[in-house]
Amino acid sequence: KNGLIVAIDGPSGAGKSTITKLLAERLGYIHIDTGAMFRAIALSVRRAGVAVDDDVSLAALCRRTDIVFVRDNGCCRVMLNGEDVSDAIRTPEISALTSRISARKPVRDSLLELQRRMGEDGGVILEGRDIGTVVFPDAEVKFFLSASAEERGRRRYLELTAKGEAVTLEQTIAAVVKRDEQDESREHAPLRCADDAVEIDSTGLSIDEVLALMEGKVRERQ
Ligand code: C5P
Repeated sequence: KNGLIVAIDGPSGAGKSTITKLLAERLGYIHIDTGAMFRAIALSVRRAGVAVDDDVSLAALCRRTDIVFVRDNGCCRVMLNGEDVSDAIRTPEISALTSRISARKPVRDSLLELQRRMGEDGGVILEGRDIGTVVFPDAEVKFFLSASAEERGRRRYLELTAKGEAVTLEQTIAAVVKRDEQDESREHAPLRCADDAVEIDSTGLSIDEVLALMEGKVRERQ
């Protein structure tokens, strides 16, 4: 193995992506954004016009969907069947659709296999909703990163408005809360904190503070 498997789970807007990227740089680990994989499938579903509850078509679509991460200059692009969809998967519409698509068994099964293959050699940090509970239940280090709904909504709002999306703060908080409820209440691989995960509430903490805390925990295990 090339190193440890580190799992970071938590609700949307808790700062997982930012923190995971920085932590991966510090440790020299590969960052795997599993949310981006579900988002790419959702984009593919929308383009194909497949119904969210049509599991047969979803399974077929997943089989012909190729998702690859391309890393250049620390920047990680998401390729869907050879097309760079990194920006297209980050709209509020795709966020909402992703949460519905990710509840479907065929979608979870297909990505589960891919995520395990990507992570099995170690030296990786995977971020998502079910990494420590389902994808790598034996991961050496697990974190559950959360923050208050207001704080998470506010962070998402700043991200979206910086990109020129026309959204309000109230809308963004409501969308974040709805997505978390769906992710927590679904039948397959619901969002929850693994029993052996280190829980971190990032409300009121700076990125550097969270990062230092996590890096310390990983170094203890290395
Ligand atoms: O992390 P991100 O907000 O990009 O994830 C988008 C959606 O993908 C989540 O709301 C969730 O429904 C789904 N997801 C998941 N399991 C993961 C990662 C993401 O179900 N491991």
